[in-house]
Amino acid sequence: MFQFMTATRIIFGEGALSHSLSMLNQFGYSALVVTGKDEQRAAPLLGYLKQQGMRYQQLSVHGEPLIAMVEEMAAAGRVFKPDMVIAVGGGSVMDVGKALSALIPNQGSVYDYVEVVGRALPLTAKPLPCIAVPTTAGTGSEVTRNAVLISAQENVKAALRSTDLIPDMAIIDPTLTYGTDKELSARCGMDAFTHLMEAYVCGDPNPLTDMVCEEGLRRLAPAIIHACEEDDPKARADMAFASMLGGMAQSNAKLGAAHGLAAALGGMLDAPHGAITAQLAPYVMAENILAACEAGRITLLNRYRQLAVILTGRQNAEPSDGIVWVQRTLKRLSLPSLCHYGLCEAVFDDVAVQALRSSSIKGNAMPLNHERLVNIMRRMCKQEPIHEHSHSLSD
Ligand SMILES: [Fe+2]
Repeated sequence: MFQFMTATRIIFGEGALSHSLSMLNQFGYSALVVTGKDEQRAAPLLGYLKQQGMRYQQLSVHGEPLIAMVEEMAAAGRVFKPDMVIAVGGGSVMDVGKALSALIPNQGSVYDYVEVVGRALPLTAKPLPCIAVPTTAGTGSEVTRNAVLISAQENVKAALRSTDLIPDMAIIDPTLTYGTDKELSARCGMDAFTHLMEAYVCGDPNPLTDMVCEEGLRRLAPAIIHACEEDDPKARADMAFASMLGGMAQSNAKLGAAHGLAAALGGMLDAPHGAITAQLAPYVMAENILAACEAGRITLLNRYRQLAVILTGRQNAEPSDGIVWVQRTLKRLSLPSLCHYGLCEAVFDDVAVQALRSSSIKGNAMPLNHERLVNIMRRMCKQEPIHEHSHSLSD
């Protein structure tokens, strides 16, 4: 048995934002609009709200989605009393929008509802209708049930999590990602890859997430470099689609050690989430493949082989060819190593301890102990080429 949840309505394609503006009236007549620092991308929406004579208030998210900032925004939102929340931006902006849609109609503070640093109470009132409009291709937050916020005091990420947080409408217009610079496109794109890859090999997949992951990886593999280097419409559309599928996959299957380690590293390093998961991905794949070989987990190794076939387009690909594909892609995208963000060996033990407590690690393809997690970080820091050490499936 399995279940699959996603946004109630998905509108996807070039011009999707302009096309769906007239559908907003079904949610009411006033909107809280959350944008990122590039407010221009919300211009067609704001123009429409103005033209329709709808009440709206605009709030901007600059930088990290800090809990203190969300608390202030929720207070402003409770005074404004919107009928809906519309978030136009990257993952952080959509997460803040989703959090506000839940907090405004509920009493109390963010800390009452947030996990890890808060009380994780269930929401009593239903969230306001939420419309998510991504302007980057990476998190897939437009179709997920989480809103990841950051507690500046404890220096940790903490999520609001509820099936009621899944947006009512996801408007995915790939043209909104045009003009995004190469580094941001690359780290968002590699995060989408990591969602699809980890959900595909995780311990709790289902037939629908398998289908979603395979199609997402099939679209992403030939598109990621083109989409990052130029505004190629097909490549940008494929990345927006793959990102959405990555959101569906992570929300309905599980993730793995790359996200478990990234949750711990994210609180310690001043590095974007996608920059961390991108660098971890090939080393987590290598450790999982090694552990699967040692444990004789043929079914899992066959999944890694299928992953490699999709990524490389070669029917005779071995599991380790998938890792080679990731390493080559990272090289082409010139993403900086985590040493660039100050990662050093002294924190490996702490990171491994924290990662073992994360929810993502519980879904990892193979159970990985402390030593193996430290090994992943050590090899990643040395930028070891992995394929020479990887096992093939022929044994
Ligand atoms: Fe991620």
